Amino acid sequence: MDYLEIVGGNKLSGSVNISGAKNAALPIIAATILSDKALTLKNLPNVVDIRTLLKLLTMLGGTVDHDKTIAKIDNSSITSTKAVYEIVSQMRASILVLGPLLARFGECEVSLPGGCAIGQRPIDLHLKALESMGAHIEIKGGYVRAEAKDGLKGAKIIFDKITVGGTENIVMAAALAHGTTSIINAAKEPEVVQLCEMIRDAGVKIEGIGTNELTIEGTCGKALEFKTIEIIPDRIEAGTYLCAGAITNSSITLQNVNHGHIRASIDKLESMGCSFDLKDNSITIYPTSNLKPVNLITIEYPGFPTDMQAQFMAVAVVSEGESLIEERLFENRFMHVSELNRLGADIWLKGSTAAIKGVEKLYGADVMATDLRASSALVLAALVAEGTTHVRRIYHLDRGYDDLEGKLSKLGANIVRKKEV
Ligand code: UD1
Repeated sequence: MDYLEIVGGNKLSGSVNISGAKNAALPIIAATILSDKALTLKNLPNVVDIRTLLKLLTMLGGTVDHDKTIAKIDNSSITSTKAVYEIVSQMRASILVLGPLLARFGECEVSLPGGCAIGQRPIDLHLKALESMGAHIEIKGGYVRAEAKDGLKGAKIIFDKITVGGTENIVMAAALAHGTTSIINAAKEPEVVQLCEMIRDAGVKIEGIGTNELTIEGTCGKALEFKTIEIIPDRIEAGTYLCAGAITNSSITLQNVNHGHIRASIDKLESMGCSFDLKDNSITIYPTSNLKPVNLITIEYPGFPTDMQAQFMAVAVVSEGESLIEERLFENRFMHVSELNRLGADIWLKGSTAAIKGVEKLYGADVMATDLRASSALVLAALVAEGTTHVRRIYHLDRGYDDLEGKLSKLGANIVRKKEV
């Protein structure tokens, strides 16, 4: 198993290119199932989750020609509609094939994803919405078996909770349904917006893109024809590098970013004393040597993203004063707390709130990555810890960060990937 060895204390400088967004690419790859024509995806991040979902397409019978950031996909040859446990258990987002498989083939079986490190993460809202669209759903042997032999029907869906994956699954299902579907309390994350635009550009009438209310006129089962799609920049990767600049008190420039998508992170870092220079698609962070504490609550877009909570906690750990961080989306997304404390942080956890007392120094130690974003928080803290930190179980990082150690090394960090002996 690989681990990262990081010797803290280096200043960073220069520029880093932000990759395509994993969370935009995954639903877009799933949406290709709605088409029976070949298409090309560009600016894919070179990460494990993308490879996993592309592998699932090939297991269904699709043809995939993938080289790092580009994939040519042809799903005209799909022969199976079963998404097996071996894949879904590796990556929960595989549940995104449920809506498109059911919409195009009228039946499918998708393994239940189960819980994960950050919480239970049920899919009840996805299933309830598909049932309102006329699907017959049963759960048997760990699989969701869904059937809509005469096609899905347009319906009015009111989500009890805002769900990114739920909204994406229903948008994809509604695209081929008979009649009009409206989704009330829809997610409006940039990744949902790109999926809606992709489907709209394939000729499906969608209103309300980027709002909490979407209306989709289905094609009555007719498969779609997509144009070439360029994945939007990863706002979480961008936010993580901004945190790297802030925590190491370094000025760095991020290329290929959409400022609008990272506003919440910019605002919080500004309140901590950092300043920014925004250009067309780049951003430079100017740090401050006296980081102020931060108070934040994770919430749906455009609020502060849960996927940036751990990284901001790492920055708060070395700021001057007390910070408060409340996690509202996932019940167990604080596993980085005990690992950060192993590096010398002073974090007190009660329920969904963490109180962080800034410390002057962190000290390198052995720490364990527990989930994707928690892992990057440990890397950030290690960049400023005195001495050497080993971050273990980095397969979590590999799921979603494109060449993290390569990009950080290029910026001047002392970070190398090693193999456990
Ligand atoms: C997506 C992102 C993930 C991000 C999360 C919240 C992808 C691949 N993943 O995950 O990185 O952290 O959005 O921004 O895009 N819920 C239910 N029932 C459901 C569905 C969700 O109770 O059927 C709950 C979840 O447990 C959670 C909340 O709703 O508490 C939001 O989850 P959701 O937006 O669905 O997250 P994902 O789509 O899984």
